[in-house]
Amino acid sequence: MLTIPVNTSKPYEVHIGSGILDTVGARIRALLPAARAMLVSDDIVAPLYGARVAKSLTDAGYVCDTFVFQSGEARKRLSTLEGVLERLAELHYTRSDIVVALGGGVVGDLAGFAAAVYARGIRYVQLPTTLLAAVDSSVGGKTAVDLAHGKNLCGAFHQPSAVFCDTDTLGTLTEHQIGDGLAEMLKYGIICDEALFEKVRNYQNETMASLIARCVEIKRDIVSEDEFDRGRRQLLNLGHTVGHAIEAASNFSMTHGHAVAAGMGVVARAAEAANLCESGTAQRVCDALDALGLPKGTTFGIETLAPLMLSDKKADGGSINLIVPRSVGDCTVLRKSKEDAAAFVARGL
Ligand code: GLY
Repeated sequence: MLTIPVNTSKPYEVHIGSGILDTVGARIRALLPAARAMLVSDDIVAPLYGARVAKSLTDAGYVCDTFVFQSGEARKRLSTLEGVLERLAELHYTRSDIVVALGGGVVGDLAGFAAAVYARGIRYVQLPTTLLAAVDSSVGGKTAVDLAHGKNLCGAFHQPSAVFCDTDTLGTLTEHQIGDGLAEMLKYGIICDEALFEKVRNYQNETMASLIARCVEIKRDIVSEDEFDRGRRQLLNLGHTVGHAIEAASNFSMTHGHAVAAGMGVVARAAEAANLCESGTAQRVCDALDALGLPKGTTFGIETLAPLMLSDKKADGGSINLIVPRSVGDCTVLRKSKEDAAAFVARGL
């Protein structure tokens, strides 16, 4: 098992390896000697792993309760959050009890947010079961639900007490879901690690645990330096401003990782057209996206994307911070007025 310490305001560890789920209760108990554990999951993941995790928690001495909701981004809403909070209250959860999030990004974000606000904050553990959640959303303490006006607009920073990623759960993912995770992994390579970029592009299943660990290390380093997203953490948004606009324009029929992939392709082409990056960078990014079967652009025009980009929560007053590559392995933050940002992105479409 690989273990990565994360040194945020509340330090914790990320554990990555095979066969973790059956022993996760005892591992959590060693960290958090609580009475009750609320296992939050969705109706795809719960039938696959819920009983094993619940047994492990019960065997470790927790009273284990469950909250299962319908899978999908459409359920990452205040109404589902209210359901979790009411269940915690009905069962008299206190600050010494815990929440355990079992699932992908939607489950982790929602369960983490419930833990952030219930009783003004209780502890929680992330058990990511998708590649995207393993390399990104389970680490770093961003928790949220979506509002009608945008993704993740209602949330809190609340670090988990631990993350346990059982790589066996990746075996039940579809190729599309693996692609969502690979897009985020490629993102880390473009941001700051050219060797990782090449390894992700040519990944083999056998190397997945070490690639996940490298991505978590990069995220750990960035988040430890800028936990509350005021500076360097913005680099993690490479491809996201355009990606979120594509997701919204598609009515969320395009999944997050695929939209981020398309966003990275657009922004790399725009950076190259504006002479902001080493020649050939956009081609390298787009070739890697192609090799992984990911989109490298979108058919939505700038007139559709611009208003959605501008309502993204990363828009700040009259400006937008766009993350652009200078080369593969080196990215920078480009601050632009809303009008200039739209004109810049249009060059990459
Ligand atoms: N997913 C981007 C971040 O955690 O900052």
